[in-house]
Amino acid sequence: MSIKKQKSVLLIISIILMISFTNAAITGVVQSGKTITITYSPMTMIWFNNELRLAGVPINIMPYCKAMYGWSPLICNLPSVPACDQIRLYGTPGIGTLNLEFLYPFNCTVVA
Ligand SMILES: *[C@@H]1O[C@H](CO)[C@@H](O)[C@H](O)[C@H]1NC(C)=O
Repeated sequence: MSIKKQKSVLLIISIILMISFTNAAITGVVQSGKTITITYSPMTMIWFNNELRLAGVPINIMPYCKAMYGWSPLICNLPSVPACDQIRLYGTPGIGTLNLEFLYPFNCTVVA
């Protein structure tokens, strides 16, 4: 491939990536008992933070959450579910130094 062609391929790839990251978000949250399942886009992410929040105060749930190979969904098996009004995920899709923060309003059902 010529340098010119390579450049245009790279340009097209970066445009596709930019378009997909403008849609980056948590797309759904489902709670079933002590299990909270969070679906998100883009499909693969490396997470730095997984939090429930109550009035802005973070509750770390990262030790209880797993996403197979970083693929959506993120499944959190909590020992108990506290009150919460928001979910926050912070991480990177692994492209350069791009970091993304996802916030999603969600009222936890408290499970002791
Ligand atoms: C959470 O609960 C509050 C207070 O009951 C309500 O105003 C809000 O709409 C609820 N949010 C969601 C995402 O269900």
